[in-house]
Amino acid sequence: MIFERIILLCRPGFEKECAGEIIELANQHGFPAYIQTSDTSGVVNLISSGQSCLDFTQHVHFHSLVFARQWLVSVKDTLTLPESNRLPDILKAINDIQVNDSHKSFHDVELNYPDTNEGKSLSKFCKQFKPHLLAVLKKKHWLSAQSNWHLQLFFTDSCHVNIGITPLNNGAKDVMGIPRLKMPGAAPSRSTLKLDEAIQWFLSTRQQSELFKSGMKAVDLGAAPGGWSWQLVQRGCLVTAIDNGPMQDELMKSGMIEHLKTDAFTYLPKKKINWLVCDMAERPLHVSRLMARWFTGKHCEHAIFNLKLPMKKRLASVQECIQLLHQQLSKTGIKYQIQAKQLYHDRGEITVCIITNS
Ligand SMILES: C[S@@+](CC[C@H](N)C(=O)[O-])C[C@H]1O[C@@H](n2cnc3c(N)ncnc32)[C@H](O)[C@@H]1O
Repeated sequence: MIFERIILLCRPGFEKECAGEIIELANQHGFPAYIQTSDTSGVVNLISSGQSCLDFTQHVHFHSLVFARQWLVSVKDTLTLPESNRLPDILKAINDIQVNDSHKSFHDVELNYPDTNEGKSLSKFCKQFKPHLLAVLKKKHWLSAQSNWHLQLFFTDSCHVNIGITPLNNGAKDVMGIPRLKMPGAAPSRSTLKLDEAIQWFLSTRQQSELFKSGMKAVDLGAAPGGWSWQLVQRGCLVTAIDNGPMQDELMKSGMIEHLKTDAFTYLPKKKINWLVCDMAERPLHVSRLMARWFTGKHCEHAIFNLKLPMKKRLASVQECIQLLHQQLSKTGIKYQIQAKQLYHDRGEITVCIITNS
């Protein structure tokens, strides 16, 4: 059995960008493959011409993909299941999976479906089906905490499934790449979830505690009404919020925020700050240049910001912005890392994180 397919899940409407990224990587690695997808399906398939996609994925760091939320490698053919008693066919397909481990075992099992209205109608089915599957996997001793693989079932409807695997250390840690974040009642806006997700996606637990310490200084460009500032305050930061619009009164009562009604494109702090964040609906290149100026001028250590994508040539626009950031930051002589992702809470945008070792 050979893994001839990579299934990538993405935000519906961004299939072209997701496909563009993976096929570019396949070409760079001399991996012969083609794309199968359809608009607004939320799914992209990379199909190889006979070679193992598992080998290819071992050369690609999942975190380097901007538009894929999750990926799994699977056999080429989709399994067609009967209306009832689906388990025997599924177990047979799982039995055929061969990974490098000495004996067949999976860390856990995840049931996936596309993030479309049609896909979401499978949520109830998956919730009901999973306990049955888990019970059999346990009985067969196919689950082990030591295994390096997630077992993945990707349903397009209740009778069609692809069965595959994702390496534990090279994929999204949340099922379907969708973090279950609870909207904090006290936060001034839903955007707060974007920054929360960004911090959890881009920074390891250790980095989160090392890079956010009580009393650290942050600047929030385009801060109102304060969802991002609220996240920074929760992490102990003293925030300068830049926006001509009003900040939420309750948040201002924390005493941790200074609100300046001024232009975010001209404001600069007197002393270097720890964190710069920016969530403005501006042209992506314009924002990238602004961020680059903060780093080249040594005004901030780290940054998290959004890039609102244009209607057309979105992948090219992302690549242009990232290239500009590399060009500018490499001049500083500082060690830095740039990561970018279309997070679950991002809509027509992506989020970028720059960490330096200054
Ligand atoms: C999407 S909202 C930010 C939401 C905020 N991150 C939150 O979590 O509540 C964008 C904000 O950017 C501000 N903005 C846009 N251009 C700006 C500029 N040149 N200077 C200052 N603020 C600006 C707008 O006034 C608006 O409040």
